[in-house]
Amino acid sequence: MGKTPLSDLSWDDFDETRDPRPADNQFDAVVEQAISRRGFLGGALAFGSGAAAFGAGLTGFAKPAQAVGFGRFGFLPVDIATDYEVHVPDGFRSDVLVRWGDALWSDAEGAYSPDGGVPASLSDRVFGENTDGMELFEVDGKQLIAVNSEYVNPKINLPAASDGTPQNAEEVQLLKNLQGVTVMEVANAGQGFNVVVDSAYNRRITHETEMTLAGPLAGHALVQTKADPSGLMVKGTMNNCGSGRTLWDTYLTCEENFNGYFGATGDQPQGEGYTRYGIGGQSRYAYEKFDARYDISQEPNEPHRHGFVTEIDPADPTSVPVKRTALGRFKHENAEMVHAKDGRVVVYLGDDERGEYLYRYVSNGIYTEGGATDGLLDDGTLYVAKFNADQTGAWLPLTPETTGMEPAEILCFTRMAASAAGGTTMDRPEWVAANPLKVEAYCALTNNKNRGVKPNAGGDDTSVNAVNPRETNNYGQILRWTPAGENHAADVFTWDLYVMAGNPEVYDNAYAGSDNVNVGNMFNSPDGMQFSSDGLLWIQTDGNYKNEGDFAGMGNNQMLVGDPETGEIIRFMTVPYGAEVTGLCWSADKTVAFVGIQHPGGSWPDGAGKPRSSVVSVWREDGAAFG
Ligand code: FEO
Ligand code: CA
Ligand code: CA
Repeated sequence: MGKTPLSDLSWDDFDETRDPRPADNQFDAVVEQAISRRGFLGGALAFGSGAAAFGAGLTGFAKPAQAVGFGRFGFLPVDIATDYEVHVPDGFRSDVLVRWGDALWSDAEGAYSPDGGVPASLSDRVFGENTDGMELFEVDGKQLIAVNSEYVNPKINLPAASDGTPQNAEEVQLLKNLQGVTVMEVANAGQGFNVVVDSAYNRRITHETEMTLAGPLAGHALVQTKADPSGLMVKGTMNNCGSGRTLWDTYLTCEENFNGYFGATGDQPQGEGYTRYGIGGQSRYAYEKFDARYDISQEPNEPHRHGFVTEIDPADPTSVPVKRTALGRFKHENAEMVHAKDGRVVVYLGDDERGEYLYRYVSNGIYTEGGATDGLLDDGTLYVAKFNADQTGAWLPLTPETTGMEPAEILCFTRMAASAAGGTTMDRPEWVAANPLKVEAYCALTNNKNRGVKPNAGGDDTSVNAVNPRETNNYGQILRWTPAGENHAADVFTWDLYVMAGNPEVYDNAYAGSDNVNVGNMFNSPDGMQFSSDGLLWIQTDGNYKNEGDFAGMGNNQMLVGDPETGEIIRFMTVPYGAEVTGLCWSADKTVAFVGIQHPGGSWPDGAGKPRSSVVSVWREDGAAFG
C-alpha cells in the first residue's frame, strides 16, 4: 500500500500531518467534570457553563417533529438526498451557470475535454476549479460575479501518470492557474444566467498575479524576500475560500489554507511562526520542487506574505489587488464588513482551524458613503473574541501591551497574539454573516473533533467552554452575538447559540442538537452563510455526506434557510453526493441565486467524464424575487 498523497487529504486532515500532537486525553478530567453536571433539558443539554446559553437562548424555539415551511420562507422544504443531482423546492428551477474548464474568452472554447481536463496553455483562460465564496457587483449596467477557486484536485487535473503529484513546472503552472479568483460578467438568459464570454470585465487572478502588500506589515523585514527585497510586491493570492464585499463595492477574497503550498527542499526555518501555522515539510502540491518561491529553505519569508484578506476592484480589470495586512494573517475564512453606528468600518473574520479564534477589525477612520476610503483597511485595530459563560463577551484588542509583540509581529503572527491576549478557542470559525435588518452577527462553527481532546497548534487549552460546549464536536453550531448599544464597534456584546446541529434520531443528549433541530431539517457542519436582504439566514454545509452512523438521515450536503426571529430552519437545496455547497450571491434584481457546488462526486454535472465543480443558478418558476 502506498502512502496517501497529501493532496488527497481534506485540508482539515492535512493540518494533522503538520501538527501531530498526541491525543493524550489531558482534558479528560475537565470533560468528566462537565459530563457529571449534565442534565437533559428539553432536547438540548445543559452542562457546565453552557447551561445559561441553552436555557435562555434556545429552549424558546419549538422542536417540531418535522420541518414546516411556507410562511416567511415561501417554499416547502426539500427532503434529504443521496444521489448525484441538485434538488430545489417545488416551484424552483436550477441550471448550471459555469463549470471548471468553461471558457471565459473565446480562444479557450473547447479547451476542456472529459478525458484530459484543461491544457496548461489555456488554464488561465477558463473558469477555475473548486468554486467558493462569491459576490455580485453592478458596474455600468452590467452584472459581474467575483468568485474564488479555492484549490485543485490534482488527480482530476493532471495526467494519470502523475498520480496527483506534479512532475514538471508545466504541471505546476496548470495547478496554479486553476486556482485564485475569477471576475466574470453574467447576463440574464431567461432561464438562469449565462457567462458573457469575452466581456471586457472578465479576469483571472492566479497564484502568479502581481499584487501589493498594504498596511503596517508592508515593507517590513518579515515580508522581504530575495525576489522582492522591498517587501511590497507579492505574487498570487492562494486558497481563496470565503468572500466579502466592502461598503465601497470592492471584492474581498480570503486566503485560507495557504500553509499547505509551502515546503522545504533542504533545511527549513524553525520557530513558532512556522509551527503555529503548520508550515514545513512537504507541501500539498510539490510546488517547491519546481518554484523556489514556495521553497522555505530558500525563501523563508514567502509564507509570511500570504494568509491575508485581499481586496480586488472588479470594475477595473487592470487594477492591482491589495493584500490588507491590517486584517491579520491566519487561515481567513471570509470577511464580513459592516458599517458601525459610530461610522467606523468593522470586519468580522474567522480563522478556520481547530481551536483557533474569531476576530474583528475596526478602522480608525470613519466611512461616509461616496467618501474617501484610503486607510480604512490599513489603519485600525484587530481584536480577538472572548466569550464568557454568562452569555456576555468582549473584543480584546491585539496591541503591544496585550500581546508583548510589536505591531508588525501582531499582524504577521496573529494567532500567537490572540493566544497571548486570551481569546476563546473556537470550533473552527467558518463564515460570519451580519443581519442587514438588525445589529447582530452570526458565525458558523463548523465542527471540531479535537474539542476537549487536545490543544490547538499553539498549545492553548481547548476544553469545552460555554460557546463550544460539546467535546469531540462533529456536528457544529452557529453562534450569534449582539453588540452593545447596537454598535458593531462596541467592545462588549451578548451572545447565544442560534443552533447546535445534531442528530435527534441517533442521540437523545447534547448531540441531538438544539430545539430547532429535528429529523426533518437535520444537518452537520454549517460553513457558508449569507443573509438575504429580507433578513433570512442562508446556511450551507460542508460536512459528512455518508448518511450513516452519526450522520444517518442527513444525506448529502445542503443549503438551509433560517429565520433569526423564530429559530426555524428548513432545507432549501441538496447538492450532489460528495460535494459541499459554498458561496452564494444574488442577481441584482434578487430573482436568481447563484450557488457554488465544490468537489462534487460521480460525473456531475455532465453525466459522464470527470466531476466538475460548478456554480448553479436557482430561480423561482414564477420569476419572483426571493433574496
Ligand atoms: Fe475553505 Fe474553512 O473553508
Ligand atoms: Ca468554508
Ligand atoms: Ca468547511
